[in-house]
Parts: sequence; C-alpha cells; structure tokens
Amino acid sequence: MVKLEILSIFVILLFSASCSFAGDSSDSCTCNSDGSLFDLPSLDMISTKVGNYEFPKGIEIPQNIKPPADQEFKFYLVVSGYSWHRCVNKTWIFEESRALLFNHEEDISCYPRSPSASTFKNTAVPDGTVSLGIKSIISDYDTSQLITTGIAAIPKSDVNDIPYGLEKTSNNTGKGAFEDVTYIVRPKTKGGNNPTVPCGNGQFPEGYIHSRPFIVYNLFYHPKKGSSKVRRR
Ligand SMILES: *[C@@H]1O[C@H](CO)[C@@H](O)[C@H](O)[C@H]1NC(C)=O
Ligand SMILES: *[C@@H]1O[C@H](CO)[C@@H](O)[C@H](O)[C@H]1NC(C)=O
Repeated sequence: MVKLEILSIFVILLFSASCSFAGDSSDSCTCNSDGSLFDLPSLDMISTKVGNYEFPKGIEIPQNIKPPADQEFKFYLVVSGYSWHRCVNKTWIFEESRALLFNHEEDISCYPRSPSASTFKNTAVPDGTVSLGIKSIISDYDTSQLITTGIAAIPKSDVNDIPYGLEKTSNNTGKGAFEDVTYIVRPKTKGGNNPTVPCGNGQFPEGYIHSRPFIVYNLFYHPKKGSSKVRRR
C-alpha cells in the first residue's frame, strides 16, 4: 500500500513537471505542468535556438505585405504580450510592445523557460513611429538582434486586432537568427490594436498609457541565396 502511494506520487511528479525541449529538428517544448511552476525540477531546459524554420501551416500572405521577390522565408516566431499606446494631443500613438517571442504557439504554456526572444523599445525614433527592437534572450546560443519599422499595413475587419503588416528591419547586430533578417511579415494577429475610444478626456487623460494583450505571427525573411544582398558580402 505504501509502495503504491510512493509510486503514484512519483507518477504525479513526472506528469506535473515534464516540460522539456525535444532536441530534434522541431525543438518543440512538450509541457504538462498541472502543479506549481516552483515544483519544476529544473529551469535550465530552455530552447537552444531562435525560430521555427518550417513555414507555418494555413498561412497565406496578402500581396500588399509580401516582401520583395529576392527575399525568402527563413523562420517564424509567435509573439505574445502587451501592446502600449499613449495619448498625445487627443490621439493614441504607438508607445511600445512588451512581448516575448516563442518558437511554437504551444510553447507559450511552458513559460518561463520557453520564450527565445523579446521585444525592446526603440528609443532612436520619434514618438509615434511604429518601430521596435527584437532580440534573442538565449544569449548562450544566439546574440542577434534587430530593429523593425512598419512599412505597410492592412487593417482587419475586427478593429481590436493589430493590422496585418510588413516591416523593414535595420541595425542588425550579434550572431544568430536575426543577423541577416531583412523583412518581417505579420499575416496572423489577434488583439493589441490602438484603442478606438477618444482620449485627452477625463477617462483617458493626456499621457495615459493604454495596454492591451495580443498574439501575432511574425515571419522573418532574408535575401535569397545568389541575390545581390548576399553577393555583396
Ligand atoms: C500638441 O499640440 C500643441 C498645440 O498644437 C503643440 O504645441 C504640441 O507640440 C503638441 N505636442 C505633441 C507632443 O505633439
Ligand atoms: C539605427 O541605429 C542608428 C545609430 O544608432 C540610429 O541613428 C538609427 O535611428 C537606427 N535606426 C532605426 C530604424 O532605429
């Protein structure tokens, strides 16, 4: 009887704390945490690479947000967090994204050891510019980062959703996934758009920061082999 109890405790522990990265090509986090995250045996089983190099299923890219033809898909990341908009002169302007980037949608449930990159505020651009930084947070394996700036957008019928978009990247530094990325496509979004309610009033005074959760897919592109950008190196 006692032995059975010990066995069942062991089994429960195994199931409540089995979160690990498979280590194969998919490098996907399989997670089953019913218990407290503080009971996890180790916080060290993290992703060892940034990005999912398989084109995501069911995604079609509208013509208006397609990168130039000499660029090709490299990897994608699922971005989730909060989008901030600030009230300036009765207008909501983009402030920053406070978000983490995951190699797979299902990895989000394995937090805190599942994100591979994060956003950061781009302080080099004027207020309201839709621009932000993205960098690897697994610096033992990848130290790359970049700045992204919106160049095209397709508003969605649901005004609460961030528009579909195309972004141009710049200021790439470090070694790793982001180092040769040139464009980012955003073909799948939910939540996070700038508010539709007026501001500069009693409810939302000047300077008010409006924060809303979102989840989007970011598809990262780099120059095709043999294109001019690669030959120039
Ligand atoms: C807000 O509007 C006022 C008056 O038009 C202008 O002087 C001020 O520079 C504006 N502030 C910002 C941050 O745009
Ligand atoms: C890239 O970095 C330079 C130098 O720090 C800066 O002047 C420029 O604004 C940055 N570009 C963007 C899009 O932030």
